[in-house]
Amino acid sequence: MAQAPPNLPGVALVGCGSSTPAQRVINDELGQRVETSDAWIQTRTGIRERKVVAKGETVNDLSYRAAESALQMAGWDAETVDLVLLATSTPDDLFGSAPQIQAMLGASKAVAFDLTAACSGFLFALVTASQFLRTGSIKRALVIGADQLSRWVDWDDRRSCVLFGDGAGAVAIESTNSNQNGLLAFDLKSDGKRGGCLNLPQRRDYLDLVTGKTHQKGGYSTIEMNGQEVYKFAVREVPSILDNLLKVNNIKPECLDWLLLHQANQRILDAVADRFKLPREKVLSNLESYGNTSAATIPLMLDEAVRDGRVQSGHLIASSGFGAGLSWGAALFKWHGPS
Ligand code: ACO
Repeated sequence: MAQAPPNLPGVALVGCGSSTPAQRVINDELGQRVETSDAWIQTRTGIRERKVVAKGETVNDLSYRAAESALQMAGWDAETVDLVLLATSTPDDLFGSAPQIQAMLGASKAVAFDLTAACSGFLFALVTASQFLRTGSIKRALVIGADQLSRWVDWDDRRSCVLFGDGAGAVAIESTNSNQNGLLAFDLKSDGKRGGCLNLPQRRDYLDLVTGKTHQKGGYSTIEMNGQEVYKFAVREVPSILDNLLKVNNIKPECLDWLLLHQANQRILDAVADRFKLPREKVLSNLESYGNTSAATIPLMLDEAVRDGRVQSGHLIASSGFGAGLSWGAALFKWHGPS
């Protein structure tokens, strides 16, 4: 649990952006591939369609476009960015994709690295970047959440393939005077003991190396998920971590302007909103158009709501991400917007 320490620089979220692939796949089309229906998918998840990367597009492309939009909204020159932090579980390069995005952006003075925490990745990255800002070691950071889970979905497994889509979102955050701190509080959690209900494991392929010795060939399996266990985990842990964060910070749920959760299933969003007696109008949701885009869902949703005018400067947002690891986290932040 962390409350913002006094007398340190604060952080302000001053820009956002997002990007999704052009290719739409609607529920009925998935029925060509697995035994499912639009009615089942909509009733059980709230999803109508997802965007899937087609030939020629990559996570780097989506990330770059999202980050470039965030830069533009913030009014920053790319050369003034100190940190590019990419939350992803599906990098184009296992050695790290953030430096490639840094180069595409022309953010030549920024240090750039990847962070992996599945669907919690964006919140984990936002908090990580804010720590650099709050200690005064850097001034400006681009935090990107991007995933292309379509690479790793088993498209013949109807229990999981209907859930996921591809996309990227980004925020531009900068340090400010401490009396203007926009990241009010956060809490991050992990529980590897429960990790088995959602994995994207290495394949165990062994090849001959030299006489009598083998090596393991690189490569991953497809997403393995116990949907019911993940669902139970989400509806138990998300209200709990948010409730705690609100209580410790003396914030009543009715004071929130928005609830911005990881977009995995509309039933999870509704269950959490009910727990805090929040009206549906305060719950940001766009999963009907994108499905679960993993690390991208929170910044993608934020960007949409900022650009259509729902989220305005000074609004207080309670956010929570959850997913594989298992990992989960929550943050209370204020949207600042460009100065
Ligand atoms: N179409 C039609 N029927 C289906 C489908 C489908 N796509 N998928 C499952 N079914 C069937 C099942 O086979 C089952 O049939 P049966 O009763 O004859 O055995 C029936 O529907 C009910 O299945 P359940 O698994 O009980 O359905 P449930 O209501 O739990 O919904 C779901 C499944 C949508 C996966 C839900 O459990 C869920 O959303 N869980 C959370 C998953 C999640 O959020 N994962 C991502 C986490 S984030 C990350 O880190 C990547």
